[in-house]
Amino acid sequence: TREQHLQSILDTVPDAMIVIDELGQILSFSAAAQRLFGYDEDEVVGRNVHCLMPSPDRERHDDYIRHYRNGGDRRIIGIGRTVTARRRDGTDFPIQLSVGEAGHDGDRVFTGFIRDLSQQERDDLKMRELQ
Ligand code: HEM
Repeated sequence: TREQHLQSILDTVPDAMIVIDELGQILSFSAAAQRLFGYDEDEVVGRNVHCLMPSPDRERHDDYIRHYRNGGDRRIIGIGRTVTARRRDGTDFPIQLSVGEAGHDGDRVFTGFIRDLSQQERDDLKMRELQ
């Protein structure tokens, strides 16, 4: 079925992939996302995606989405950005976030692809120390 096909993709993609609805509620959470954030899928499905980030974005993320749905500009969709995410254990780490959009008003989902930049950040710090 389509569902199983989607699930097999989510289990395989190396980057973390998170699907949310228009209210920011998590609909699916890939295997790589589970490893990266430290949550099982069933612990986060139905929760707001803002549980995966620190302040101030955590308090503002609903407004970011609302602003966009009300006709605001795209600030991440199709552009991408380096932002700070938060693991289950409370530690923060840098990610490259890309967001795509599918569907129409009222029945729309957003798909987030997340690349962990923490190793790169450690390498950059090391390089600076050595210079
Ligand atoms: C917008 C942060 C994850 C979907 C934004 C903005 C920021 C942000 C800073 C734009 C604010 C602005 O300039 O107006 C974060 C952080 C995340 C995260 C720190 C860490 C986990 C996600 C994920 C998704 C998502 C996983 C989708 C699955 C959106 C959408 C918008 C948005 C739909 C509004 C459209 C746009 O600005 O292009 N987010 N986000 N975000 N984010 Fe997130």
